[in-house]
Amino acid sequence: MKKLVDLRRDTNTLPTEEMKEAAFRSPLGDAVYGEDPRQRELEELAAFILGKERAIFLPSGTMGNLVALLTHTQRGNEIILEENAHIFTSETGGLAQVAGLMVKTLRNEDGAPEPRDIERAIRPENIHYPRTALIGLENTHYRYGGIVVPFTRFEKIREVADRYNLPVHLDGARLFNAAIYLGVEAKEIARYCDSVMISLSKGLGAPVGSLLAGSCDFIKEAERYRKMLGGGMRQTGWLCACGIIALSEDNISRLREDHDNAQFLAEGLQSLPGIKIDRHQVQTNFVLADLSERELEATVFLERIREKGVLATRAGDFAVRFVTSREVNREDIVFALQVIKEVTQVI
Ligand SMILES: Cc1ncc(COP(=O)(O)O)c(C=O)c1O
Repeated sequence: MKKLVDLRRDTNTLPTEEMKEAAFRSPLGDAVYGEDPRQRELEELAAFILGKERAIFLPSGTMGNLVALLTHTQRGNEIILEENAHIFTSETGGLAQVAGLMVKTLRNEDGAPEPRDIERAIRPENIHYPRTALIGLENTHYRYGGIVVPFTRFEKIREVADRYNLPVHLDGARLFNAAIYLGVEAKEIARYCDSVMISLSKGLGAPVGSLLAGSCDFIKEAERYRKMLGGGMRQTGWLCACGIIALSEDNISRLREDHDNAQFLAEGLQSLPGIKIDRHQVQTNFVLADLSERELEATVFLERIREKGVLATRAGDFAVRFVTSREVNREDIVFALQVIKEVTQVI
């Protein structure tokens, strides 16, 4: 069979053998009534890892974020988000359609708005204005290439939030990648936020699932919204057994391999003519390649490498995104680099 190296996403990761075994051995119960033992175990484990009082299991990160927005806000309120935040760009406008929110976006390519810009964006109490009700952050930041928000930024944003009595929600779909980059535990980042969503189904390799964590009062309310949106699932034990393994220390620290592979890929790519890499961007498991120097169109480039067995994603007219995950090893990256080298020689 022809070799295929898939560098499009980290959501294509498949459950490990250990996860599959644990799933099939898992006891089951009706989770809507709190009777699924593995779901309860997973929720307790996630709350502990994130340093929060409670956590709930949900089918997706999108639902986790939406439940958080619904729980923190009232219809007609405003949320402050970075302009390219996933909640704003890629969650089907659920924040407006379902939560009835207005959005104030602030751009900052290092992943999170400057605290002084957030402060300026907070609406004063005035009969004409919507009320600012929530600050949303994302770490790692997806659209800017999996970059990690500077640690001190969280501290400063928390100070602003406290001054204005505003909650902070963290879209931590790849929070563990950020924690590994910073050399801290995930809870050290989550402590600056009132609620945090993490994904199990990206680099961590579980087939399905996310968790939303926060205080007991917050989660009690969030459980109602999860049910309302159809996220109250029944025998979840199979999924949660995979999730428990996904959150094991070994599995979390394995993400370091993905980061190392991304560095190796970036190094190889930047040595090729016509490909520019901003090495500062390569912090976790994403590599953004700029093909504009030789006006190599992303769609043409992607088609050529696909023909030779390498998959990546368009990130702009002349930009391509590569994502490393447990589905690719060092040998695969060497193969991908060889293919890209051949392609750039003839294009
Ligand atoms: C930063 C970020 N947040 C949220 C999500 C949504 O997660 P899900 O695909 O599980 O709905 C994603 C998915 O790629 C993401 O990258």
